[in-house]
Amino acid sequence: MGRVTASAPGKCILFGEHAVVYGQPAVAVAIEQRISVSIETLGSESESWKIDGMQFNPKRHPHVQALRNRLWQHHQGAPNLVIQISGDIPPASGLGSSAALSVAASAALRTARGRWFNAAGQPQNTNSWAEGYSSHFENKELYSVEDQEINAFRSGEDGDTNHYVTDESVVDLDECALLAHSVEAVAQGGRASPMDASTCAHGGIVLLSDSLESDEEYLYTRRLEMPEGERIWHLHSIDLPKSTEEMFLVIGNTGVHAPTSHQVAKVAATIEAHPERMKEIETIGMIARRGIQSLREGDYAGVGRAMSENQIMLQGLGVSCPELENLIRAAAPTALGAKLTGAGGGGCMVALTTNPKQTSEAIELAGGRTLISKFGNVGLSIDESKNLPLWTTKPKA
Ligand code: PMV
Repeated sequence: MGRVTASAPGKCILFGEHAVVYGQPAVAVAIEQRISVSIETLGSESESWKIDGMQFNPKRHPHVQALRNRLWQHHQGAPNLVIQISGDIPPASGLGSSAALSVAASAALRTARGRWFNAAGQPQNTNSWAEGYSSHFENKELYSVEDQEINAFRSGEDGDTNHYVTDESVVDLDECALLAHSVEAVAQGGRASPMDASTCAHGGIVLLSDSLESDEEYLYTRRLEMPEGERIWHLHSIDLPKSTEEMFLVIGNTGVHAPTSHQVAKVAATIEAHPERMKEIETIGMIARRGIQSLREGDYAGVGRAMSENQIMLQGLGVSCPELENLIRAAAPTALGAKLTGAGGGGCMVALTTNPKQTSEAIELAGGRTLISKFGNVGLSIDESKNLPLWTTKPKA
């Protein structure tokens, strides 16, 4: 029987959450903790999809359901799958667990399916793809909130000249991040930034901005029609700064649940009532830019300072909470800087430190659950593949 296993890291945000919603830059880093997705076909004896030994329930796994509609269409004869999900990213805590799951599942399904190309097309040349998704193509329906089945084949291609590749070389980071972003948008009712999906796919450090950043490596641009109008993000990869070996991120989980949508709505209401408070959003943008410069220079004291200043602004905006403040205070004596990460109101904080053990103990003593991560973690990886393809189909001429 065929099997593919892929994994992707979670993420935390160093600078710029909330302000990124208003076009300011934000930086996310991939963490050591990962989600792994393993898929197998069990032939005709398996009557339906199974996840972790249970019958697949699309309501419990909306991301998997949305990916299934994009990459593994039943009406085209795709076989039923048995899926195992494992990992050490706590769910629903702002660490990107659903994006990591979606990126890993996209890659596993693509590896399992292979890809058709035109003529002598190469995997890296998206223009020669006869099927698949890329930021180079118009993919408006990909983000459809209705989540109907969406065809992966590109129209207007010549079916006679296609050839097929079935190995890991067909996995494309842009495609996996694009699919993960689209299924996050579906699961979140049409609102999702590509920060999680892209950081989980590419790994390392990712910068999002509403403008092109000439000093950083450009990845691609994402557009999403949201209820409030079209949003555009330019994504970049920041080169790993020197001397990161000594540097650690300690993440402290408050265990308090605060949905991102509520927190985002809270900031929107504050700004609507007091338009002058947009200045605070702009200040977060300035702090983020300073932090990015420090990161580039390998000046970690500067990175930590920018994180702590960013926290003061987030506190002022009303998105922190006593539980987060408590953990941030506990981390401060042994850290270069600390702040909430993600939407706030609960969830996690992150501290930058050269003493991960001490910082982690201090946070735990204050009641938080900790995870320790170094910098520079790899993004998506295909960890196992055998007896490929698990399924394929001929593209339409
Ligand atoms: O809570 P998370 O990790 O999904 O991060 C939310 C980040 C915000 O800036 C608050 C919202 C957004 O869409 O960027």
